[in-house]
Amino acid sequence: MTRAESIPVAELGEVQAKAELARLAQEIALHDAHYHQRDAPVISDSEYDALRQRNTAIEARFPHLQRADSPSLRVGGAVLDGFEKSTHARPMLSLNNAFSDGDVADFCISIRKFLGLDPDEPLHFSAEPKIDGVSATLRYEDGIFVSGATRGDGFTGENISENLRTLHDIPLALKGGDLPRVIDVRGEVYISHNEFAELNQRQEAQGKPVFMNPRNAAAGSLRQLDPAITAQRPLRFFAYAWGEISVLPADTQMGVINKFKDWGLPTNPAIQRCKDLDEMLAAYKQFEQERATLGYDIDGVVYKIDRLDLQERLGFRTNSPRWAIAHKFPAELAQTVLEAIEIQVGRTGALTPVAKLRPVTVGGVVVSNATLHNEDEIKRKDARIGDTVLVRRAGDVIPQIVEVVLDKRTADSVPFVFPVICPVCGSHAVREEDGKTGKQDVVRRCTGGLVCPAQAVERLRHFVSRDAFDIEGLGEQNVQLLFDANLIKNPADIFRLNRKIEDVKKAFLKKREDDALEREERTGKKRKKILDESKRTFKEIENLISSIEARREIDLERFIYALGIRHVGQNNARLLAKNYHSFANFHAGMKGAYTRDSESSQDLLAIDGVGAALVEALIEFFSEPQNDKVITALLDEVTVRDFVAPAAASPVAGMTIVFTGAMEKMSRDEAKARAQSLGAKVAGSVSAKTDIVIAGADAGSKLKKARDLGIKILGEDEWLAVIDQRD
Ligand code: IVH
Repeated sequence: MTRAESIPVAELGEVQAKAELARLAQEIALHDAHYHQRDAPVISDSEYDALRQRNTAIEARFPHLQRADSPSLRVGGAVLDGFEKSTHARPMLSLNNAFSDGDVADFCISIRKFLGLDPDEPLHFSAEPKIDGVSATLRYEDGIFVSGATRGDGFTGENISENLRTLHDIPLALKGGDLPRVIDVRGEVYISHNEFAELNQRQEAQGKPVFMNPRNAAAGSLRQLDPAITAQRPLRFFAYAWGEISVLPADTQMGVINKFKDWGLPTNPAIQRCKDLDEMLAAYKQFEQERATLGYDIDGVVYKIDRLDLQERLGFRTNSPRWAIAHKFPAELAQTVLEAIEIQVGRTGALTPVAKLRPVTVGGVVVSNATLHNEDEIKRKDARIGDTVLVRRAGDVIPQIVEVVLDKRTADSVPFVFPVICPVCGSHAVREEDGKTGKQDVVRRCTGGLVCPAQAVERLRHFVSRDAFDIEGLGEQNVQLLFDANLIKNPADIFRLNRKIEDVKKAFLKKREDDALEREERTGKKRKKILDESKRTFKEIENLISSIEARREIDLERFIYALGIRHVGQNNARLLAKNYHSFANFHAGMKGAYTRDSESSQDLLAIDGVGAALVEALIEFFSEPQNDKVITALLDEVTVRDFVAPAAASPVAGMTIVFTGAMEKMSRDEAKARAQSLGAKVAGSVSAKTDIVIAGADAGSKLKKARDLGIKILGEDEWLAVIDQRD
């Protein structure tokens, strides 16, 4: 019998074709591994090309026989217009950072406390290099790669499936008999040092821009709309975590990672298991020493609790797991000259000094700005214009000035004088005093509030920004233009623009005319016919108005975020939305809190993740009549949608729960976190709004009050039974 591999494609029967495609997939994958992973090809390029061509030709004749792991799926298919959004089944969180051995020790202590473990009970961790790349999630269904996405904001990323498919490190089909039906594999896409250098050489030879560092190159390569470009970039992948998973294949972190490896996923061989703090810190030292020779960038070590049952009990904060921490390597340093100190006025009126530096390379990136934080910081460092300074850059963090190199200071230097008037509007800039402690706020703020253009425009820009109201066509320039024309002074005005279209047109045309005039003066080029300009402008305004109309309904968390309250970023906005469900409820709670209604403040403080600074900021914001006016005006224009919990229904979702007395099976913190992760709100005091009171040993007045109010009361075991129904 003739072997299938020697039969010309045109003569293959279907059964033979199928066998051939299976053989080719396996063989090409093997050669890819020799070539890409071991850098040691065993066949010539033309032999390799012949294998691929044969595969493509068979698939062209029998399209229905194409395999899920076909090598032709890796070359990059159609060019996309843009990436679709992809919501993660489980959020992709980031990690808390530890910067010292002490921070790691604290981490171990807090975990033991949370879990109620005795000091001599064993507690193992994995220690893994923290790869400095770009995180990605890969979804496999029945072992087949079906899609992949970037992290995005942690909840929603971009669907970059076609690009991820081109990575040779990413198996298109997992192998093994014990595959979960569904698994989201999480890991890091990165570029090795050698391949980065080669990539930049190629870029340079082709007259294309070179990349700043491997991480930027990896990020840029993953976000190509043409997957064929991604396919040419030397991207690698390490799998280190998971999101949704239908069945866990092991009961430890290391166990799952070993399974990943069996299934054909690349895992980092350097991962270690540590039995205590000493071993963790030893692993850190070792990785730090090996850093230069590992062949790829790492910026620290990640420790994770090894036992998955303990991971589950520890659960998550808003933004990071309690069971893991990143121990960062110290940042890189460089010397340069502080050429100027610029004072910027932020959206909240804060005057922030920014150091303008003579450009210098720190850790592979050119730095020309650094933060000086605030007035006190400048004083403490005695940073003066003209000084030589030591600059530090750590990962994504804004570069910082570590210290002044005093030996290099010139005799004529003078201390920097921080301005006491706002450089934008001329209002007084003051430092608030804390009512209780009498301490001065570190930040000097412009008192101009809504009259200060820096604040108003910044507030409006924030309000319409992508993660807030997301109004297309209302970019920075148009906000400024409409603000200058007196058409939008506060957020509600945006929704009144539809009633002032003629004025909007006038403002836009005037701006176009001014720009054209300015251009004519500068370049000598004649102005375009005003008629053409006005047509284009009117179309633009029409589009703008319709994108504003499209945003008259908005999700609660976006609305809260849009208000631009201090300390309320996306995470806190989401946290508040989740706990208050509707704007009316939230607003009432905030009003209660600032009138010092203790129950409202307690409710707010009881939310896991809400601290004193956030409470202060909310109180400050909602007690300001100006802000209340803005909100009332806004609510006349827009409808705020109630928060919809994405998680599956739990028996206590949406309920208000109060814990009282001592728990025996878990610490109070753990009990609270558990309830919140099930969608319940944990309150500090019992009221008519309480749904359940969980009474531990020696419960006192709260239990009595609950009885008086006829509220459902559960003992600790009954409570555990209720929450376990879910599993
Ligand atoms: S675990 C829920 N392990 O670091 C835990 N992350 O600062 C998810 N990273 O977004 C992360 N190496 O991009 C984990 N061995 C490792 C990692 C790692 C690099 C990145 C990842 C994550 C970021 C957090």
